[in-house]
Amino acid sequence: MCECCGGHVENKFAPAEVILAKYEGIKGSLIPILQAVQDEYGYLPEDVMGYVAEEIDIPLSRIYGVITFYAQFHLKPRGKNIIRICVGTACHVKGAGKIVTAFEEKLGVKAGETTPDLKFTIEPIACVGACGLAPVIMVNHDTYGKLSPKMVRDVLDNY
Ligand code: FES
Repeated sequence: MCECCGGHVENKFAPAEVILAKYEGIKGSLIPILQAVQDEYGYLPEDVMGYVAEEIDIPLSRIYGVITFYAQFHLKPRGKNIIRICVGTACHVKGAGKIVTAFEEKLGVKAGETTPDLKFTIEPIACVGACGLAPVIMVNHDTYGKLSPKMVRDVLDNY
């Protein structure tokens, strides 16, 4: 409750508190905690990581060591829709670079970045095992194959 207006004050750490309570006393639970926090917040905010470190009594530097070791963890906000563009060999040969450029131009951000409205993140990735469909991208769980730069607008319109 806000002291000056009596309104509801959002406690940013409340979701993390719930997660930590679930894992309390369970050894080796740092990774599941980080996964749950990321699911909740969409990424691993710096202040929430400070809170987690304090609560579970693990040095923040060690937590960041784990976060930066695993590609699954993200320290910056990510888009609601993740555009994964395969840049593996087969896709590269079939023009993945042009697909990356087309998404960058349409969205106004570079590969690896998120649009300011948090709608899209562009992520180049290695072979997704669908080389016969090269060049391939995935948007969330949807796969698009034999893509051309001209098709990029239509793909974005689906989200
Ligand atoms: S190289 Fe892109 S799917 Fe294999």
